[in-house]
Amino acid sequence: MLDLRPTSRTLAIITGASAGIGAATAKAFLERDDTVIAVARRPCPHTKAISIATDLTSNESIDALIQQITSQIDVKTRICLVHNAAKMNKDSVGACTDDDLRAVLDTNIIGINRLNQALLPYMDAGSSIVYVGSTLAEKAVPGSFSYVISKHAQLGMMRATCQDLMGSGIHTAMVCPGFTDTEMLRTHLGEDTEVLNTIGAMNSFSRLVQPEEIASGILFCHDNPAINGSVFHLNLGQKES
Ligand SMILES: NC(=O)c1ccc[n+]([C@@H]2O[C@H](COP(=O)([O-])OP(=O)(O)OC[C@H]3O[C@@H](n4cnc5c(N)ncnc54)[C@H](OP(=O)(O)O)[C@@H]3O)[C@@H](O)[C@H]2O)c1
Repeated sequence: MLDLRPTSRTLAIITGASAGIGAATAKAFLERDDTVIAVARRPCPHTKAISIATDLTSNESIDALIQQITSQIDVKTRICLVHNAAKMNKDSVGACTDDDLRAVLDTNIIGINRLNQALLPYMDAGSSIVYVGSTLAEKAVPGSFSYVISKHAQLGMMRATCQDLMGSGIHTAMVCPGFTDTEMLRTHLGEDTEVLNTIGAMNSFSRLVQPEEIASGILFCHDNPAINGSVFHLNLGQKES
């Protein structure tokens, strides 16, 4: 049984906490004695997190997750809901089938909507909803068609979330990572050191962002309700291309 009684601490519910930015965020919350529910198909590497195996493309799997969480919360709780999991395909406007687009939107948009609706009734004042967006929430590059669409839609969701939750004491923000050294980046770009160095050189510090740096930004957003409806860029000063 989870101990989710009201406390000054936070219940962090983090999607995509099995790797990369999500795992780093789980670690950061755990290090300050918050409770972490890690949502992904694989378990969180940090064993103090409560991992609930979930496939965000499956309605049944999301229903089971929601049932497991809500059956253990009987009072409003200070929650940080981090929408971090995402699917990224290489595709383009001329080559993206409806099914492929749907699969990306299921993970990156519909899953978020389901979780928001199910968990909002349990979120006390001081809670937050942090969306992990991308530089591609605000611009497009070639070859990432469905991902760009989904990240722009997430930005709209975050802004609408802020407007709809006025007066609730719940705040929201979007954290937009630059090129961050994770599985997703390496899957997309490959393991060629030269390519990774070139990408890393596209900011003022000439290196990739570390997942821990994004995690720290997520916690900062959660802790500061003044950051509400805001887009928070964490990219080491990316060069404009
Ligand atoms: N890395 C970058 O350069 C970068 C840049 C901009 C934005 N971002 C954003 O940062 C966020 C985290 O990405 P990352 O770089 O940390 O990627 P990552 O290391 O590949 O992690 C992605 C996470 O999403 C989870 N996930 C994917 N599909 C899922 C599904 N169907 N159901 C449940 N979980 C699913 C994965 O878990 P399982 O595989 O275990 O299910 C994994 O934990 C994403 O929103 C991404 O768009 C990343």
